[in-house]
Amino acid sequence: MADNNEGERGVTRGGQYSGPVAQESAPVSDPHDDPAYVTRTKFLSGVALVTGGVMTAAILVPVIGFAAADSVQEEEWRWVDVGPLSDFPDGEVTSIAVSGPNPESDRRAFLRHRDGAIMAIWNRCAHLGCPVSYSAGGDVYSCPCHGGAYDSLGRVTSGPPPRPLDRFDIKIATPDGKDVARQEDVKVGVRTDGASPDDRVLIGRPFSIDEDQNPYRIHGPGEEVDGVLSNLYPF
Ligand code: FES
Repeated sequence: MADNNEGERGVTRGGQYSGPVAQESAPVSDPHDDPAYVTRTKFLSGVALVTGGVMTAAILVPVIGFAAADSVQEEEWRWVDVGPLSDFPDGEVTSIAVSGPNPESDRRAFLRHRDGAIMAIWNRCAHLGCPVSYSAGGDVYSCPCHGGAYDSLGRVTSGPPPRPLDRFDIKIATPDGKDVARQEDVKVGVRTDGASPDDRVLIGRPFSIDEDQNPYRIHGPGEEVDGVLSNLYPF
């Protein structure tokens, strides 16, 4: 009897296998083996890295820029003599032109002398920089460009300005240059009680304030002094 063993794997006849023979399949290329192949994980990791880098730069660049700008402004800044104390009577708000070597000092300011103290308020609108005007009747400031309105201390009462009017540092000195009084509290200004009419009023470095009159470094028109947007500016 012939050796005829049929099974799942084929037929063996006469000691010789004649069934199906496994064929070596042709190699199939796997795209994962290609070093240039970008998987979804790789792609998402790349997106996360780029996004993180952009956000970090958005925060660090303005911070570093402002720090550098402040140090430059510190060097350029000088006090500007705007006249004797007698030119600014108590009870009045006097508009003056401030001309000096500092970039920010070549502007107009309102010197507000009230209750034995003077403060200097910049006439630059905190919205887009238009010159504001003072109304003695209401003791308020208003901007002709977009309706910005400020109270007697330059705090916003209506309109688009994002912060109060900026101020200048201010001090009083004798005619030969000795300090008589400095601005200890920006909410008050510089005290004039102990000064004589001939003493000089000097305008100094500008600064910004918030609605509670807390001082900040000088900001440009449209910038907020605090809050999330202040960190994102100018991006
Ligand atoms: Fe003053 Fe716009 S510039 S309200």
